[in-house]
Amino acid sequence: MPFWGLLRRKRPTTPARALHAPTLAQPPAEQESAARFQRRYLEDVPYLLPKDEAEIDRLNFQHYALMSVQKVHIVTPLEKYPQAILDVGCGTGLWAREVGNRFPACRVIGVDVEPPERLPTTPINVQFLYSDVLKGLPFDDNSFDLVHQRLLISAIPARSWSAVVRELVRVTRPGGWLQLTETGGYYHRPGPFSLRVSGLLDRAFERWGFDPYIAEHLPMYLQQAGAVEVEKYVYSVVLGEGGGQGGRLLQKDLLALLHALSERMASLIAREEWQRMLEALPAEWASHQTAFQFHVTVGRKPPAS
Ligand SMILES: C[S@@+](CC[C@H](N)C(=O)[O-])C[C@H]1O[C@@H](n2cnc3c(N)ncnc32)[C@H](O)[C@@H]1O
Repeated sequence: MPFWGLLRRKRPTTPARALHAPTLAQPPAEQESAARFQRRYLEDVPYLLPKDEAEIDRLNFQHYALMSVQKVHIVTPLEKYPQAILDVGCGTGLWAREVGNRFPACRVIGVDVEPPERLPTTPINVQFLYSDVLKGLPFDDNSFDLVHQRLLISAIPARSWSAVVRELVRVTRPGGWLQLTETGGYYHRPGPFSLRVSGLLDRAFERWGFDPYIAEHLPMYLQQAGAVEVEKYVYSVVLGEGGGQGGRLLQKDLLALLHALSERMASLIAREEWQRMLEALPAEWASHQTAFQFHVTVGRKPPAS
């Protein structure tokens, strides 16, 4: 079946964007001051993070940081030869491209409100499409062996999660799997700066209508949507040198993420104070051996009886 065989209705596509190598060349502080008042944001969706070149770099870098800890793209059981996989809010498309390479006979579709450009290296079985998950997915019921969604905590308002998860389950085929990765301010052995930063973020997310603890609520949403065999895997990584390669990469990513939120946070805290706290974090993380967590929740659409 061609890709468009899975499509329920046509959506406009948005202009393609350049993709960059997965490096965070500039230290986050310099990156932030260079781009301080010039970040680009999406206008038609309530997405909190910037959507610009620096964020594309961060998302690619973050993909490698997460993969260095998680090791595998797919933690659910899966048919040996899956036929169709969906990645919702696919960002730069790295996960989808790598999964497309891994399963060359499988159609892999990444959807996003600003889909990535198709690179010459994009496998032919991988397609990127426009879709706003808050308005429903443009696919028939029971279309995909696996539906993957990662880090949409700052894209899906708290009140919309239940409907979004029902939509993800709708497009999963009976017996197919869902894999939803989220994080939040989950620290082990936090010091005072970590506690202050995550407390401020919690307040900010709640004020803006987002759920800072969505990772904890996803198993419930999956069960309410009819999923079975729901389980959660928690990955915990010591930030910085103490956590090896994963810890070093995640520290850099987390700092870049906190800097990316600076502009939004200015409504709650003076910029200079936020900056000062972020600058103090690496030393505090090293002295406390602070660990950061991300949660991967999986579930299965009941097989047809
Ligand atoms: C933090 S990024 C995560 C990207 C990717 N899942 C990853 O893990 O690298 C969130 C992505 O969600 C997309 N997004 C935001 N709001 C969306 C919506 N309503 N529907 C679909 N995608 C959305 C953004 O454009 C962005 O690419």
